[in-house]
Amino acid sequence: MGIRITPSILNSDVSDLRGELAKIAGADWAHVDVMDNHFVPNLTWGLPVVEAILPVSPVPLDIHLMIADPDRWAPAYAEAGAQSVTFHAEAAAAPIRLARELRRQGARAGLALRPTTGVDPFLELLPEIDMLLIMTVEPGFGGQSFLDSMLPKIRAARRAVTEQDLDLWIQVDGGVSRETIERAAEAGADTFVAGSAVYKAEDAAAEVEALRGLAEGAHRH
Ligand code: DX5
Ligand code: ZN
Repeated sequence: MGIRITPSILNSDVSDLRGELAKIAGADWAHVDVMDNHFVPNLTWGLPVVEAILPVSPVPLDIHLMIADPDRWAPAYAEAGAQSVTFHAEAAAAPIRLARELRRQGARAGLALRPTTGVDPFLELLPEIDMLLIMTVEPGFGGQSFLDSMLPKIRAARRAVTEQDLDLWIQVDGGVSRETIERAAEAGADTFVAGSAVYKAEDAAAEVEALRGLAEGAHRH
């Protein structure tokens, strides 16, 4: 199972996004949190900012849409060239149709679950998506504590992926750090968002490698 580190630029220095992205050239993807002040009580950026950073990012963009009505808004991110677009199960009216549309546009399609959303109702539609994002904090803000209560959900998702023999990434987002990444990896996550852990570190690039090493070590055991 491969490991992917996908740092979130949410709490980077947004006055210098180009420079902040350059720091994570050794990561696999850059995770971009789009919030609409409706689905979550916070507002960040949208399509114009994603369009602006796509050509200057050293790594592909992993867009995490924390927005209402993704059926209407998500396809434009794929059309703009974002390599992965994740929408929330709680917000989508027709998740299968939307996932198919994102794939048709050439993006990887991701489905995100809030902490209180169970994975069971979505097990049948896993073949329709490329990544399942299990939130390990309530979405909306960086810097919150990892919810250990999500570990059983990660395990259940991993079991389903193994049973169905799918090529599906399991991403965790929220409170991922040197203290928590091994637990998430042992439970079956393979794709790790880390916001404050990476951007509050003295050396962001070294932090990415440290997280990668811990996750790989946890998978080996
Ligand atoms: C929170 C966002 C996360 C956030 C994670 O709703 O989805 O991607 O940036 O930040 P940390 O790693 O600080 O918890
Ligand atoms: Zn996120």
